[in-house]
Amino acid sequence: MDQSMKPGTPLALCTLLLISLLLIYLLSEKNPSESITAKPSLTTLSCFVCLQHKTPTYRDELEAALEGASMANKTVIITIVNRAYTEGDKPMLDIFLDGFWLGEDTRQLTNHLLIVAVDKTAYERCKFLRLHCYKLKTDGEDFVDEKTFMSEDFIKMMWLRTRFLGDVLRRGYNIVFTDTDVLWLRNPFPRLTLNETIDLQLSVDQFNGDQWSQRHAINTGFYMIKSNNKTIALFDEWYGQRNSSTGKKEQDVLVELMWKRVFKRLRLRVRFLDTNYFSGFCENSRDANVVSTVHANCCRSIRAKVTDLTTVIHDWKRFKDSSGNKTMESRWSSNHLACQNSWIS
Ligand SMILES: *[C@@H]1O[C@H](CO)[C@@H](O)[C@H](O)[C@H]1NC(C)=O
Ligand SMILES: *[C@@H]1O[C@H](CO)[C@@H](O)[C@H](O)[C@H]1NC(C)=O
Ligand SMILES: *[C@@H]1O[C@H](CO)[C@@H](O)[C@H](O)[C@H]1NC(C)=O
Ligand SMILES: *[C@@H]1O[C@H](CO)[C@@H](O)[C@H](O)[C@H]1NC(C)=O
Ligand SMILES: *[C@@H]1O[C@H](CO)[C@@H](O)[C@H](O)[C@H]1NC(C)=O
Repeated sequence: MDQSMKPGTPLALCTLLLISLLLIYLLSEKNPSESITAKPSLTTLSCFVCLQHKTPTYRDELEAALEGASMANKTVIITIVNRAYTEGDKPMLDIFLDGFWLGEDTRQLTNHLLIVAVDKTAYERCKFLRLHCYKLKTDGEDFVDEKTFMSEDFIKMMWLRTRFLGDVLRRGYNIVFTDTDVLWLRNPFPRLTLNETIDLQLSVDQFNGDQWSQRHAINTGFYMIKSNNKTIALFDEWYGQRNSSTGKKEQDVLVELMWKRVFKRLRLRVRFLDTNYFSGFCENSRDANVVSTVHANCCRSIRAKVTDLTTVIHDWKRFKDSSGNKTMESRWSSNHLACQNSWIS
């Protein structure tokens, strides 16, 4: 709030400037030899100065949105939605929110969730749900429909998101980025804030047992990133690759950067998240007693994701209802059939 407009000072300054200019003007009238061009340029200057001061230095929309959603320690949870995620019998966004409602110690996290909408419908749906919403400027393009995996628009949207998240880091906010097809079943922060020195924590499709090993198939559908020079440099480099990476999605480009030892060069401390806690359809968590997130990865269509995530929600409810019953098996009932079949078209 300390950045908001203080109307007194600029107004007084402008009045003073105008009066002095008027005086200069009146005095110069009496001297016809004075260059005529000096007057308009002075006037232009004064107007410019006045306008500069008159323009209120309101925080811009993004800053306001981030501030509204942020935790005290400048950490914000971000997801990006389009119309396809907000429509249908059971929209993906609703399932995503069900996760926070049914999860353990997750309800209050929606206070720190910023929904970034890439089109009008998604934005209106977000406002209707009374969440923290931000409408992403998309250079005139609206990403309305479901983007099939690896279609041209899908890739464009991915790059847009990389640029946007880089902006957020530059503004000093730490991010927990989550795709909208990730169920938050437990508050993940206790597992993410173990060590201050870690810059980036990435989820993976399959976990190889070593949280520092770069031999992982990373998944940018869920990660936590701190805001600092190193992570900003990483996002600059990552986004800088967009033209020379035709046909590749941003995640593949990050993998390439990782192989080119960019993490090491930038001195980034990167941790890879165990699927036992940060799981997905590629690799289930082995233990429902500890799982934090379930990502509908290894899945091609929204419809299949909705089907299989709904099953996960039923499993989770059953698990919670039976808590304390040692005989109840804490395993997932489905092997995500709809998602498996989504690759056969
Ligand atoms: C920020 O604060 C939240 C809420 O107190 C906490 O759970 C989280 O671990 C903190 N994040 C960091 C990066 O310290
Ligand atoms: C964080 O990691 C660093 C580097 O491995 C280590 O020296 C430090 O003790 C760790 N801090 C905590 C609180 O675990
Ligand atoms: C980050 O960059 C800023 C501006 O270039 C500099 O003032 C600051 O010291 C840097 N911080 C670190 C930790 O390198
Ligand atoms: C990528 O292409 C766009 C549009 O063609 C251009 O404006 C931009 O400067 C290019 N960026 C890089 C890093 O080459
Ligand atoms: C515990 O779970 C088992 C297996 O699902 C079930 O047969 C049994 O009725 C449950 N017991 C209680 C007290 O819920």
